[in-house]
Amino acid sequence: MKNTLFEKAQAALKNCYVKYSNFKVGAALKLKDGTILTGVNIENASYGLSNCAERTALFRAYAQGYTKDDIEAVLVTTEQPYFVSPCGACRQVMNELVNPDVPVIMTDKDGNEKTVLNHELLPLGFSGDDL
Ligand code: THU
Repeated sequence: MKNTLFEKAQAALKNCYVKYSNFKVGAALKLKDGTILTGVNIENASYGLSNCAERTALFRAYAQGYTKDDIEAVLVTTEQPYFVSPCGACRQVMNELVNPDVPVIMTDKDGNEKTVLNHELLPLGFSGDDL
């Protein structure tokens, strides 16, 4: 599973819109029906409006009608020789849109990985249960 997700996320790197950072990030979601959806980071001249690869993939999934119970794994990759972990904004969004025990696989450019569970990324996170 990891290999397929990794290959698709790596292939998606060509679609990154990284005019300002030139730092390409690709994400891939494994869905229960076998579908793999990718996402890339898409930047903006108003830098704060840039969207990370993980959120692009998740919003794409939800826009197509998938929900958290459909997501089996999340993978994030880059062109770097080290793995990159999801930023704080993505952790907050994953806290809401991905189930707690879903693996989040972080890989470097060669596919070396570090995997954690989604809930490990945002201990004591704020959620709808707090409202
Ligand atoms: N970025 C992601 O897409 N995902 C991450 O997990 C970390 C950061 C993007 C945001 C921005 O386009 C670029 O990487 C540099 O911060």
